[in-house]
Amino acid sequence: MCGIVGFTGAQSAAPLLLDGLKKLEYRGYDSAGIAVMDGQKITVSKVTGRIANLCEKTRDGADVPGSTGIGHTRWATHGAPTEENAHPHLSNDGRFAVVHNGIIENYMQLRDELIRDGYHFESETDTEVIVHLIEMYYRGNMRKALLKTTNRLQGSYALGVICSEEPGKIYAVREASPLILGVGIGENYFASDVTALVNHTRNVIYLEDGEFAELSCETIKIFDCTGQEIRKKVTRILWDVQAAEKGGYEHFMLKEIMEQPGAVKATIAPRIKEGKVVFEELGLTASEIGEIRKIIITACGSAYYAGCAGKYAIEKLCRIPVEVVLASELRYSDPLIDNRTLVIVISQSGETADTIAALKECKAKGARTLAVVNVVGSTVAKLADYTVYTWAGPEIAVATTKGYTTQVTVLYLLAVYFAGQLGRTEGEDRKLLTALQALPRQIQQAFDLNASIPALAKKYHASKSLFFIGRNTDYAIALEGALKMKEISYLHAEAYAAGELKHGTIALIEEHQPVIALCGNPAIMEKTLSNIVEVKSRGAEVLALTFRNNQKIVSVADDLLFIPKIDALFSAVVEIVPLQLLAYYVARENGCDIDKPKNLAKSVTVE
Ligand code: F6R
Repeated sequence: MCGIVGFTGAQSAAPLLLDGLKKLEYRGYDSAGIAVMDGQKITVSKVTGRIANLCEKTRDGADVPGSTGIGHTRWATHGAPTEENAHPHLSNDGRFAVVHNGIIENYMQLRDELIRDGYHFESETDTEVIVHLIEMYYRGNMRKALLKTTNRLQGSYALGVICSEEPGKIYAVREASPLILGVGIGENYFASDVTALVNHTRNVIYLEDGEFAELSCETIKIFDCTGQEIRKKVTRILWDVQAAEKGGYEHFMLKEIMEQPGAVKATIAPRIKEGKVVFEELGLTASEIGEIRKIIITACGSAYYAGCAGKYAIEKLCRIPVEVVLASELRYSDPLIDNRTLVIVISQSGETADTIAALKECKAKGARTLAVVNVVGSTVAKLADYTVYTWAGPEIAVATTKGYTTQVTVLYLLAVYFAGQLGRTEGEDRKLLTALQALPRQIQQAFDLNASIPALAKKYHASKSLFFIGRNTDYAIALEGALKMKEISYLHAEAYAAGELKHGTIALIEEHQPVIALCGNPAIMEKTLSNIVEVKSRGAEVLALTFRNNQKIVSVADDLLFIPKIDALFSAVVEIVPLQLLAYYVARENGCDIDKPKNLAKSVTVE
């Protein structure tokens, strides 16, 4: 996920582009750049890191003359976050500059073809093929060049293009990535979202997939995918700027919760091909997988709980023992590790100090290491022998949501992949893939089934403490549910294995004590039901989470959260969703700073 902007008008372009990029920084912030046209001269300025670095380098745009330009803030996908890989990318003849948000799936094939035709590449990005294709197809008519270029591209793209032979014009192209045109007076804009526009104009045009536009300071011409000019409606934006940054949501956390169907789909889709799970990024052969005697999963916080949830699927499908160890403990525990141990390190940020230290310790002991990471080019991604990205997009809220669900999804995919390589899924492949592919839809169903959560939050928000109970996979999910609740709402919340209550904790149950009971796993549900009855008979108020029409639970619980009927092996990705929403609405009731809870940081780079 990246952000792009474009401006044409009478004012100096660079300061306006920088301002727009600052608004889009939430979409990615590992490098940034602008290309500005002054007459026929294109000047490109790029930096690694944040937009602030680009402002410093260009003296807030004062060093980059010209009134037509494009800009980009990057969330690296193909190629590390370096200056070479930062956008805009220039054509070999210097006449064209391109910014891109999205992924070009067939870029390897196009790159080989362009290299054979004599084009040279300066970056490792998928984007660079676009600018060379435009140069190849341009014969004095940009519309034709863009049509020919986009005919060659597979994947998703929002593009911004300038050409030195067309001063004063910017081009915007959309296919499966957001792009909006801003209609000004004597000036026009485009941007990945309205956030970057509302300071300058509230009149916008939403481009649809396959459409592209030519913008000059006075005109906006829009074309369909055949090159025919079309007319589009101008929409007036009424949002305030702050809401726009969050896509209309009150908090980034809620936005990120709602992004989970798309994020989980983006994690799964590239890894299922021809009826099989594939991990092209893993260099492990089937016989190397066969040599693995033990898997250790290590991580911190929610990433650790993702490991706890993934363990069940890996052990069940692969029959390889899995230990899940807190990274902060592993590094001091002289762990039993050798070269037949696979260590899976999980980290959204890839910069967590404890996790990095644990990874180094395991490498030093000879383990093979596999990182499950969201941030491309992060330290964990670079250190591990193999890296699998979660593709969740930037996560801004401190409390992880889509980071966690995509981590668990990768572990599920790895479980099916390893089991397949070990020959342990014979006859089951199809069923497993169907269950995995259903997850994004089931998350959406979990949203739809839980409209009562804001009302439940009103009932439970003043509780002194909340107990989360569950068994097996439900227990793993309870751990993450309790963490979400405590970190953003500041309520005391603890998760217990339901069967353990009677060994001590049940002493704490008294009249009206809220107990959140997870009953999503049919194999073990009857046992948890007994525990519900035990706590209820001591006065507890039970909020049960279970699948629809589960009459046994519905008849005993005081309140209910629902999930659709799902395969228990892969349930965490769906079952956590109502608990994320419950934590969110309880925190909102309590007036907490949801996106930035007290005492916490997004990336914990100290021990
Ligand atoms: C909780 C949360 C943290 C992180 C933990 C590890 O909502 O976000 O518990 O999961 O700090 O962070 P990463 O995954 O970046 O290593």
